[in-house]
Amino acid sequence: MSQEKILLTGGSGYVGSHSCVALCEAGYQPVIFDNFSNSSPKILDRLEQITKTKITLVEGDILNFNQIVNVFQQHNIKAVMHFAGCKAVDDSVKNPLKYYRSNVSGSINIIDAMKVSGVDVFIFSSSATIFGDLNVNPISESATFSPKNPYGKTKLFVEEIIADLFGSGCFSNLAALRYFNPVGAHHSGLIGEDPKGVPQNLMPYLAQVAVGRLSKLEIFGRDYPTKDGTGVRDYIHVMDVADAHVATLDYLLSNGGYLPINLGTGNGVSVLELIRTFEKASGHSIPWSFGPRRKGDAAEYYADPSLAKKKLGWSAKRNLDTMCSDMWRWQSENPHGY
Ligand code: NAD
Ligand code: UD1
Repeated sequence: MSQEKILLTGGSGYVGSHSCVALCEAGYQPVIFDNFSNSSPKILDRLEQITKTKITLVEGDILNFNQIVNVFQQHNIKAVMHFAGCKAVDDSVKNPLKYYRSNVSGSINIIDAMKVSGVDVFIFSSSATIFGDLNVNPISESATFSPKNPYGKTKLFVEEIIADLFGSGCFSNLAALRYFNPVGAHHSGLIGEDPKGVPQNLMPYLAQVAVGRLSKLEIFGRDYPTKDGTGVRDYIHVMDVADAHVATLDYLLSNGGYLPINLGTGNGVSVLELIRTFEKASGHSIPWSFGPRRKGDAAEYYADPSLAKKKLGWSAKRNLDTMCSDMWRWQSENPHGY
């Protein structure tokens, strides 16, 4: 069991907090760095309850270079998992500079601070959105990049920066994990996704309808060339995503290299299938109606998860029923989030 300290920027957010739990289980010591722009410090108690460990949480902004360097000076950090950033697609179309600043400049700040501090293991939260809709499914790592909005472009730009850093020899332990659609929650029901405002993504919207916070789900499009006409995605349990981070860290610490990896289950699930599974898991029927397609949506995409299996020995273990029942436990026990 290692006791290495791992810096989690954005570690109090959705994916970061679940990764924090997985890291503790694997014997690492997470140090969370977050400005709480899209999360709450209240999560610390919950994380400590689950892990039965004292967790370090530093309030700070990735746009503030000195604050990051201070964290490296105060803690003997071995590696960085970089989750912090903004992630709302619509907002990125309206406010592109905000996204280039937080996601691109913020990432450069972190990497720069790592360089001056002698830390060279970096795992970046990328997204399947970098692939756009030009590819044939399943989407492998050699698929074409074609992001459709500023958010997606920021993820691709940072991936390109990482590839250049690897090429330059400045950094030798780097990964970009392209999440497909992370959903669900830790099985304890203590932590989960807690979007501010009306959720933009399907699973949190569905859960808020089931719990009575929202009255009805609108299905965006019924005439896609998919199995039932609704959009198809690769939903992956957030704890599987968290486990993949630990597997990536273990791999980089032992072997080094540059790993761009797609993180999905390889299964395409339609909106109607997800609704039915969620109804079964929650015991609640979900009122819904068909509406028009959402601008910019692809009909169908799901991952080819074989490289992750080959390189990391990782594959997703939790099925759609578990994603829905864990999501429901979190939402029903915390109807208004943290
Ligand atoms: P989240 O919003 O729940 O977590 C991000 C965290 O970063 C929040 O706690 C927020 O307060 C913090 N943060 C934002 N700006 C910051 C700043 N300037 N300084 C310090 N902290 C800051 O998002 P998430 O769903 O956990 O996503 C984590 C990462 O994974 C993001 O980079 C996101 O783009 C990427 N990603 C997420 C998904 C998804 O569906 N959740 C899919 C693909 C990629
Ligand atoms: C969205 C983002 C993507 C991001 C991903 C993170 C857009 C256009 N894309 O992807 O960049 O990486 O989240 O998980 O926002 N749906 C409904 N009704 C709803 C909400 C969604 O029918 O109220 C449908 C969508 O049309 C889609 C599916 O549900 O077919 C999944 O949507 P969503 O959860 O928003 O994820 P993505 O569109 O895959």
